[in-house]
Amino acid sequence: MVDFSHQPTMKGFFAPTRFEADVYDCEVIGKVPTDMNGAFVRLGGDWLYPPKFSDDAPFSVDGYINMFRFKNGIVDYKGRWVKTPRYKADLAAHKQLFGEYRNPFTDDPSVKGLDRTVQNTTPLAFAGKLFTLKEDSLPYEINCNTLETIGPYNFHGKYKSLTFTAHPKVDPVTGEMICYGYEAAGLETNDVYLYTINKKGEVTREVRFKVPYISMVHDIGLTQKHVIIPVFGFVTSMERLKEGKVHWGWDSTRPSYVGIIPRDGEAKDIRWFKGPERATVHTLNGRTEGDKVILEAPIFDSNPFPFFPSVDGSPWDAQKARAYIRRNTFDLNSKDDGFTEEKLFEMNVSDLGRVDDRYLSLPYRYAFTAYTDRERPFDQWRAGNLQGRVSNCYGRFDLATGKKSSYFVGDTCSLQEVCFVPRKGSSEEGDGYVIGMASNYAEMRSELIIADAQRLEDGDVARVILPFRSTAQVHGRWMDEDQLPFA
Ligand SMILES: [Fe+2]
Repeated sequence: MVDFSHQPTMKGFFAPTRFEADVYDCEVIGKVPTDMNGAFVRLGGDWLYPPKFSDDAPFSVDGYINMFRFKNGIVDYKGRWVKTPRYKADLAAHKQLFGEYRNPFTDDPSVKGLDRTVQNTTPLAFAGKLFTLKEDSLPYEINCNTLETIGPYNFHGKYKSLTFTAHPKVDPVTGEMICYGYEAAGLETNDVYLYTINKKGEVTREVRFKVPYISMVHDIGLTQKHVIIPVFGFVTSMERLKEGKVHWGWDSTRPSYVGIIPRDGEAKDIRWFKGPERATVHTLNGRTEGDKVILEAPIFDSNPFPFFPSVDGSPWDAQKARAYIRRNTFDLNSKDDGFTEEKLFEMNVSDLGRVDDRYLSLPYRYAFTAYTDRERPFDQWRAGNLQGRVSNCYGRFDLATGKKSSYFVGDTCSLQEVCFVPRKGSSEEGDGYVIGMASNYAEMRSELIIADAQRLEDGDVARVILPFRSTAQVHGRWMDEDQLPFA
């Protein structure tokens, strides 16, 4: 028996969908650009069975991969569960066997030792293969045409970390991937293994180092010369897990650290800078200018996630859980461990931002992300009581001039993470399309938005309509026709 009726957050638009889908030649409002050939692949989650504990984190949701396949202006949709050992075990038992977020001590004894990853965070196309990523395990390889799960992948046995980040960086100049795992040597270890993997998928470098304290190293910054490693207030311990708690708690007394390591450096070359309480969950871009290393990122003042509670029992503070685009500058010549921080825009934004990936690790100008414009209309009668809580705009933030241009999604929708698709044949930064999923609360359906990134004010050029609610994504990626062996 499957019963979601006692899950207060899983109602209405946010109720589990629990089906796999194929839609051929999707309905489109407008015209899909014919120079977009490839796929927009989204990874997120859907609950196969309700969580075992009411305070479990939503990050425990079962992985669900879905793909909008673009071919000459026609779009097909496909959605599949990521068929992890956990998914299969739960399905066989007809119930949730796994307990709190990243805490194996809370699982049913029957699944002891089984890979408990849910693979729900980021899709990746690399070296001709499609992967799902979740930071508690190896990548899982997926068939890019059927979206069926092949299984865990360790780069010919040369990738030794037990975990793999959801945010690897691909250097647009060399095509190599800089990636890492934290808690790399096992649960509750402070080891990070940092890798370079060439564009053929061969591991060419491994550096092992330790972080100041075990924390969520969710994302990094990459420059042409350095890797930037933010560490901030999420803490964990074996004691905490044995007490049956979710993996992370927030400790506001912990300083944030940022490690800077040369890309050709060893563990001894890492330099740790120290700052106040902050949360840098996602980054935008990094660069090295002389002796300065610069990171731009949407950074929170404190804990962004209410489901990872404070270790001192204090309540979650929504005011401090707002991200602002900031610039951190690290002076490699400085004698102390401090760094400077600037707020680049006086408005809070979604921390799921994006740049034109052809400019990753290089000097750049534009950042894209979603935000809430409370001045825009919201049709409460048709869309429900979500006024002020929807992301109704995608912004292009010009870091050179401080100006912003905006796309408004309409008065019944909320936007998920933005994605940038470069225009074929162009190398100009920001020339291309902004795409992303909109939740249309009035129509109870998901719509894929496509807008011209240089003319956001003009509205979308196309909306691909799904006749149902697709699962919420964590992250989505555009994968060009030539990146994967598409049929
Ligand atoms: Fe992420």
